[in-house]
Amino acid sequence: MQTALIILAAGQGTRMQSDRVKVLHEVAHAPLLAHAMAAGRALGSPRSVVVAGHQAEAVRAAALEIDPDTEVVEQTEQLGTAHAVAQAAPALRDFGGDAIVLYADTPFVRPETLAAMAEARKDHAVVVLGFEPADPARYGRLVMQGDDLDRIVEFKDATEQERAIGLCNSGVIAAKAELLFELISEVGNDNAAQEYYLTDIVALARARGLSAGVVTCDESETLGVNSRNDLARAEAAFQARARDAALAGGVTLTAPETVFFAHDTVIGRDAVIEPNVVFGPGVTVESGAIIRAFSHLEGCHVSRGAVVGPYARLRPGAELSEDVRVGNFVEIKNAQIAEGAKVNHLTYIGDAGVGPRANIGAGTVTCNYDGVFKHRTEIGADAFIGSDTMLVAPVTVGAGAMTASGSVITGDVPDGALALGRARQQNKPGLAEKLMGRLRAQKEQQKRD
Ligand code: UD1
Ligand code: CA
Repeated sequence: MQTALIILAAGQGTRMQSDRVKVLHEVAHAPLLAHAMAAGRALGSPRSVVVAGHQAEAVRAAALEIDPDTEVVEQTEQLGTAHAVAQAAPALRDFGGDAIVLYADTPFVRPETLAAMAEARKDHAVVVLGFEPADPARYGRLVMQGDDLDRIVEFKDATEQERAIGLCNSGVIAAKAELLFELISEVGNDNAAQEYYLTDIVALARARGLSAGVVTCDESETLGVNSRNDLARAEAAFQARARDAALAGGVTLTAPETVFFAHDTVIGRDAVIEPNVVFGPGVTVESGAIIRAFSHLEGCHVSRGAVVGPYARLRPGAELSEDVRVGNFVEIKNAQIAEGAKVNHLTYIGDAGVGPRANIGAGTVTCNYDGVFKHRTEIGADAFIGSDTMLVAPVTVGAGAMTASGSVITGDVPDGALALGRARQQNKPGLAEKLMGRLRAQKEQQKRD
């Protein structure tokens, strides 16, 4: 059975205390909305509909950027979760399969859990995802009748007895799309919040003689984000999962709790990630690479056998081929470093190509920016760049060429040539002693005055 995803993302999220709508706040460098949509994609959903409301245009743009095939509908007034789901009905009118409702602010439900719900649909017309939180707080309560779900009661409307129930509603609901919309059309708003509750469809289904069931999951999956505090907890939960996944995939993490991943970080087997490494979005690290302590990587690729850091910064467009060495206090941006090249100390390489086995001396800077335009530096195979070379781009250093330490290179260097671009040294015999003597005498005089 095909399953469409309906993602509710219309709320403002007042408790976030933010100008930005809640679902666009990020965990692991991706908006909450993207995490919810990813759970659906993992399930193989052929269709997804995002219900936007507050800042609908920003949410629409984000949704389409995450998945150009998603549909975005607008709920202009937030009249409740059932009303929100109803907005997706026209988009799914011709859809013959199931629908699963997910909240964009509860985006960490595992694909396995959604699959278990799809499976449970074989036995029940409506399946609800429940959980037993340490503190049931103000969640809706699942009222069971034997193994079946009888109804869901919202906290505001619940009696003392019902509030004592520990099994809570996560908000995730699955049913045949057609039935879901039919039941929703019967939902009223005669309740404490005067809202159209999606949760009412359980009792409505039961009234028709249909059965409802519950699949349960761990509290960590249904973690809802309502405040900055929740967002921080969601980040922590995401990181804990990402670390476990990396370890399970054969990556060595010497101090897992100090390594931070992005939503899309890919690390190969037998790679070693030392303590305090931070991954921004868009990083792939191949098998056997070593990322030493305190390095920061984003938008880059590190090939097999490369060693990065400690204290290195790889920015977007940094591509390290096999066996490259990038050492301490080195920054690399939009640059391709060919196999076996070494950039070991205190260097900035931006908008550049570095040939195989080239050696970049300490303190080298590609001067890539003239204040308006960016320019490229090309360094040939086996070139040797002396320490403290300024490469004023656009500039090319040929294969096997050298630059003298301290050079400012403003013109191309032919293959095999040595470029000297610095003032000639002059020695003045005895002048240092004389100068020092004068300065010390001056200081003595000041003390006496
Ligand atoms: C809802 C459930 C409750 C459950 C809880 C779990 C209902 C009536 N209650 O309560 O049983 O325990 O979630 O977190 O469903 N939204 C819209 N449009 C609306 C209203 C809500 O898009 O008109 C979205 C919100 O942005 C949010 C989600 O739906 O992402 C849930 O809405 P919220 O108002 O937070 O529901 P709860 O009161 O938490
Ligand atoms: Ca909520």
